Amino acid sequence: MAVERTLSIVKPDAVAKGATGEILRRFEEAGLQIVAIKKLQLSEELAQGFYAVHKERPFFGDLVKFMTSGPVVVSALEGEGAIAKNRELMGPTNSTEAPAGTIRGDFGTDIERNAAHGSDAPETAKIEISYFFNASEITGPCEAL
Ligand code: RTP
Ligand code: MG
Repeated sequence: MAVERTLSIVKPDAVAKGATGEILRRFEEAGLQIVAIKKLQLSEELAQGFYAVHKERPFFGDLVKFMTSGPVVVSALEGEGAIAKNRELMGPTNSTEAPAGTIRGDFGTDIERNAAHGSDAPETAKIEISYFFNASEITGPCEAL
């Protein structure tokens, strides 16, 4: 499997619960390296831009409200199969269907308040990482990515 990078967001619900450290620990324990990280309060504009792919969906307004409801912790993770590994650790989108032991199962509440975001493909990972980080803010050995 190829070494990949993916964008992770610890969402406002999980940050507010004090679960940031535990979530990042799970990534590291699974062999994903944190190659960039920052904590920030998303503006409405930044949240709308990040989830622009969903702008026609009925839940878009609520999603933007949720994502701007408190600070988030954004990171770029790197490792073998990082994109799938991150999504496996998170569990399914709907927290009520996410098994115990997954991030969404343990820290999410419902389909919207689901504790974490992870990129869904190499192309989106690249776009999402550059949405939040300059090249100079990203560390790590995988400079070709
Ligand atoms: P994400 O992009 O945040 O990693 O989540 P995902 O791929 O598992 O799910 P996606 O379909 O991309 O949805 C993005 C986020 O929108 C919220 N959502 N709300 N109310 C609803 O029906 C609904 N559906 C999705 C969730 O916060 C979801 O993670
Ligand atoms: Mg998604």
